[in-house]
Amino acid sequence: MSRRMLCSIAFLACLTTLQAQKLYDEPYRPQVHFSPMTSWMNDPNGLVYIDNTYHMFFQYFPDSTVWGPMHWGHAVSKDLLHWKQEGIALYPDSLGYIFSGSVVIDSMNSSGFGTKAKKSMIAIFTQHDPAGEKAGTSFFQNQSIAYSLDNGIHWQKYNGNPVVKTPGLKDFRDPKVSWNAEQKKWIMVLAAGDRVMFYSSGNLIEWKKESEFGSGTGAHGGVWECPDLIPFVVDGKKIWLLIVSINPGALQGGSGTQYFTGEFDGHQFISNDTLTRWMDYGADNYAGVSFSNTGKEKIFLGWMSNWQYATKVPTVKWRSAMTIPRVLGLKKIGPHYFTTMTPVSMKPLGTSTKLSTGNKINLNVPYKIDFNIPDLHAFTFIFSNSLGQELRIGFDEDKNAFFIDRTKAGKSDFDPHFAVIHYAPRIAKSKKSKLTVILDKSSLELFADGGLTCMTEIFFPEQPLNEWRTEANTNLFNTIQIDQLKSIWTSP
Ligand code: FRU
Repeated sequence: MSRRMLCSIAFLACLTTLQAQKLYDEPYRPQVHFSPMTSWMNDPNGLVYIDNTYHMFFQYFPDSTVWGPMHWGHAVSKDLLHWKQEGIALYPDSLGYIFSGSVVIDSMNSSGFGTKAKKSMIAIFTQHDPAGEKAGTSFFQNQSIAYSLDNGIHWQKYNGNPVVKTPGLKDFRDPKVSWNAEQKKWIMVLAAGDRVMFYSSGNLIEWKKESEFGSGTGAHGGVWECPDLIPFVVDGKKIWLLIVSINPGALQGGSGTQYFTGEFDGHQFISNDTLTRWMDYGADNYAGVSFSNTGKEKIFLGWMSNWQYATKVPTVKWRSAMTIPRVLGLKKIGPHYFTTMTPVSMKPLGTSTKLSTGNKINLNVPYKIDFNIPDLHAFTFIFSNSLGQELRIGFDEDKNAFFIDRTKAGKSDFDPHFAVIHYAPRIAKSKKSKLTVILDKSSLELFADGGLTCMTEIFFPEQPLNEWRTEANTNLFNTIQIDQLKSIWTSP
């Protein structure tokens, strides 16, 4: 190869890197969260781990920055932080758009789609037929399957689709499938109106309805969506966690994710209390589900937005990001079980760690701060910029609640529901508290008390929130650890 050719190849490579950097450097573009290169994204779909790689599929409309005919986008990661966006995995067809669903690894080739050499990935998803909806029928949401023998790059839809037909419900969607080791069968949980239904199958193709859950329990101010059913062992006892998103009718208005705990015998879910609990008490964590095929470790990921304003937020080129993936746990406090969510290790992104006891610091977004509080009392942290825009978070002692106040945090004129203060009940009872905050260009995630109380919110400051100060007795904290984080869009 001539020197000239080598130079032009080097030049092109450099240009591509520059373009890529520019692409992920637009105003509000998250630096440690996944967002699509361009266009509209909503729910995470088909989260699955195989061959040392995490796969994230997602609701995607490549032709616009607002919701439209849904496809499945695809991204892969080795560490749940750095993501590489792949080509589109599933396109709409004559049965309809490709709505939310899940992916399983068919290790035993129960479907027959795999080969001896290659296990198949099976996607189970809703097909939403816009023509049926327009015609006013009640039969436009049905469940289909597809398989891939090359780890999610190419998919073949099953020619007998749909595999689960709606019983005549307009809202009948978002199948999440998992292998039930005790009953040796596949279990599907899916949203049906304002409850969930369970189906079972031996081969992922023929499904039998087992039961329903949800009537008279939990929040019912909207349609139930994106359920997930996950087993845990807590203090030696098997407890099942049933996650259900709801829109509208969530705690902070619009969309949110509630959960139930109880028993599941392969046929029926029976909750062990009547509490209504929320996975995340902020306004912007929706449609979250867990990765399949991760063994005992359960990892949860949500869409960091709210249908109240998702299509109106002031980003250009792209819309919406995912939350930081979180390790999911279940903890017993008194007679009740509560979820815990803590961010996956951010070590691959840490550049420098500072320890501080001070109350005013200049930082560079993105960053993570860990606080240790020996005796919890009221405090406020203020994240601000040179324009005087500020995001406040803290603990309100009278309400025994953490809060996020985004009333002065930047652009909010796109929706009347946006500029508000949200509160999250403190669930832990201890004097001691530990907080982790992850601050990105347009989002904050608060994990309190080992993730017993979580809040996720987005906001749109016109300059990054690079200054941080506290309003509290500085003795409140015995250590404050600050980690500057490297952008995931530069090479790891
Ligand atoms: C949740 C949801 C799902 C549906 C998908 C459509 O945000 O409404 O119920 O499958 O989005 O994009």
